[in-house]
Amino acid sequence: MKLFVTFEGGEGCGKTLQSKNLYLKMVKLAMPAILIHEPGGTPLGEKIRHLLKKSCDIPISSLSELLLFNASRSQIVADVILPALEEEKIVICDRFSDSTVAYQSFARGLDISTVEHVNGIACQGVIPDVTFLLDVPPEIGLARKRAGANDRFEQEDLDFHHRVREGFLKMAKQRPRRWVIIDATLPVKEIREIIWKRVSREIEKA
Ligand code: TMP
Repeated sequence: MKLFVTFEGGEGCGKTLQSKNLYLKMVKLAMPAILIHEPGGTPLGEKIRHLLKKSCDIPISSLSELLLFNASRSQIVADVILPALEEEKIVICDRFSDSTVAYQSFARGLDISTVEHVNGIACQGVIPDVTFLLDVPPEIGLARKRAGANDRFEQEDLDFHHRVREGFLKMAKQRPRRWVIIDATLPVKEIREIIWKRVSREIEKA
C-alpha cells in the first residue's frame, strides 16, 4: 500500500527514534516500507546535509539555505520517494518540507510564500498523508542534545528554536486532518503507541 508518513519537530524531540521504531514495526509485520531522512538520503543529499549541519565556518544566507535544503529534497523525491510510492511502499521520512517552513520561514524570517513555492517545486506534488509533530519545549529538546556535538542549527539561540516550535504548532493546527500533535515529553513507549494507533488506522483505510 502507498503511504507517506513524516515526522517533524524541533531539536531533541525524539523523531529519529520514533521513525525508526515505526519502520521496525513495519518490517516485523512484513509490510514493504523504507525509512529515510532529510536533508540527505541520496549521495548528493548527504553532501548537502554535511554542508548545512556541520560547516559552521562557511557563511550560508537564509535564501541559500532554503535552496540547499530543496536541492537535497528534489533529489530524494525523484530518486527515492516517488519510485517507492509507485511501488506501493510505505515511506517513513524523518523531516520533510514542513521543516523548511518552520526553520527557514518562521525562524529565519524568509517570506512564507517564497518558501512554499520553492518547496512545491522540489516536492513535485508529493504531500505527506500523515505528519507526526513531536512537540517539545526547546529548553528540554536542546538539553537532550547539547550533551552531544553542536551543529549549525543547535547553536542558534533559544528564540530561534521557539519560533521553530511555534511554526510547527501553527501548521499542525491549520491542518488537523494530516497532522498529529504529540507531547514529546511523554514516555517513549506511550508515543510509540499513539503513532502506531494512527498509522494502523491509515493502513486499515487503504
Ligand atoms: P536532523 O536531521 O538531525 O534533525 O538535522 C537537520 C537540521 O536541519 C535540523 O536542525 C533542522 C534543519 N532543517 C532545516 O532547517 N530545514 C529543513 O528543510 C530541514 C529538512 C531541516
